[in-house]
Amino acid sequence: MKNSQRRPLVVGNWKMHGTLVSAGDLLNALRTSLQQNTAVDVAVCAPFVHLPLCRELLTISGIRWGAQNVSAYAQGAYTGEVAASMLAELGCHYVLIGHSERRALFGETDAVVVEKLRQALAAGITPILCVGETLAEREQGSTEAVIAGQLAAVLSALPAGQLAQLVVAYEPVWAIGTGKTATPEQAQAVHAHIRRQWAAAQPGQAEALIVLYGGSVKADNARLIFAQPDVDGGLVGGAALDASQFCAIVNAAEQAWNH
Ligand code: 13P
Repeated sequence: MKNSQRRPLVVGNWKMHGTLVSAGDLLNALRTSLQQNTAVDVAVCAPFVHLPLCRELLTISGIRWGAQNVSAYAQGAYTGEVAASMLAELGCHYVLIGHSERRALFGETDAVVVEKLRQALAAGITPILCVGETLAEREQGSTEAVIAGQLAAVLSALPAGQLAQLVVAYEPVWAIGTGKTATPEQAQAVHAHIRRQWAAAQPGQAEALIVLYGGSVKADNARLIFAQPDVDGGLVGGAALDASQFCAIVNAAEQAWNH
């Protein structure tokens, strides 16, 4: 059974893909195909340079857009960085923070993640906080401990009012871009763990917390994953670059909520 305090959310993470032309085609296709959708909250997290196009093509579509990263600083001499206030000006509803690719490839620590969360929240943008374990960590049996550490850094740093704004995405690193998904049971176990940990820190918030699953979500596996009671939708990489796949995943979320 799905908890009525939570609406399903499906977010596409385009990563560093596409051109202005391909992004425009994808946005137009999503806008047309998802016209009738009111049951699922849908968003795309596009590269920075495609955000003006998102604003142009998605305004009044019901589809939201967001960024994949944000600066840990508000403004100033930080060459190459993009401030949260700049994302807010472009109408971003969401920003991904702490994606495993940023943690692993760009040295993003829990402390940096917290600063980025603060910036996004101050600009009125909903952060999607990404957590997840590597294959080695899972094989050592430390999945729950790793995620507990990633969450604790945030739960201990932000006040309750800010924590209530967050969305969490569980993305096992070994499932990202590999074609291997967590089984529905593995996802459910970690999602329940995340909700329990949230409840321990913020008892009033855990039932309303949206927890997305990410890692090789495709049209043909989404429904069973989304059917799990603590899975509130998906953060979709590769399959979000294909309009028909992505729309099928949105439909799978709708079906999971209707059962
Ligand atoms: P894939 O769906 O391509 O595995 O990517 C998942 C992801 O990292 C979304 O943020």
